[in-house]
Amino acid sequence: MLYYRIPMQIIVARNYESLSQKAADFVVSAILLKPSLVLALPTGSTPLGMYKFLVELYNRKKVDFSQVKVFDLDEYCGLTPEHSQSYAFYLRHNFLSQVNLKKENIHLQDGLLDVSQASQYSKQFEETIEEVGGIDLAILGIGRNGHIGFNEPGSKVDSLTRVIDLDDKTIQDNSRFFENISEVPRKAVTMGIGTILNSQKILLLAAGKNKAEVINSSMEGPVTVRVPASILQRHPAVTIILDQDAASQLKRKE
Ligand code: F6R
Repeated sequence: MLYYRIPMQIIVARNYESLSQKAADFVVSAILLKPSLVLALPTGSTPLGMYKFLVELYNRKKVDFSQVKVFDLDEYCGLTPEHSQSYAFYLRHNFLSQVNLKKENIHLQDGLLDVSQASQYSKQFEETIEEVGGIDLAILGIGRNGHIGFNEPGSKVDSLTRVIDLDDKTIQDNSRFFENISEVPRKAVTMGIGTILNSQKILLLAAGKNKAEVINSSMEGPVTVRVPASILQRHPAVTIILDQDAASQLKRKE
């Protein structure tokens, strides 16, 4: 049920390049304000351009990651960190290994966690976040079914880090990264909706026509667990950067 709607800052970029640049600038500004910023990081196609610009800005000495701390939002269960489709591999390859983040400040989800011990794992992951003072900025992509992290439809508002069964739509969408759909893991470990909502600020990125419908329902539709991203309407500090295609079904463009 919708109790109240907090205005979200929605930025519509000219194209994907501009979206990526704006996202990178947003992150760099946050680091300039707080050099020991704690970030939650997404993977997938959408943030690739942002990571490219962040690495570029680092190489041009515009940003220093030496005090920044990072957590990844999610990981497939059953993939080693060396597997080319693991999110640990993606983040190392596209970002972590290319900037001056300290090893001790990188906290990646463990895809090889023992699922029978998941609650212990989750407790520890949440405690690590608390120990560094909480997440300052959670950067998110969005699935076509409205998932944020891997919080699939039905995820509870107060859910924390946990193992989740991936939705059929997610398995279908993510099969593009694997040789065969049967290779896509069926389970993942993800920060919860509650973990994400506890962040001081949230930056959500979406690009392409295939995200237009879910962007409309998440931002302008009712808050419902059926569309997990819709809960962001209740967070006080959300910025959304879209390209024109992803924004094409929004009525209200700020
Ligand atoms: C990945 C993640 C997911 C993706 C979402 C969109 O770490 O958290 O929520 O952000 O599935 O993926 P792309 O960007 O590939 O469309």
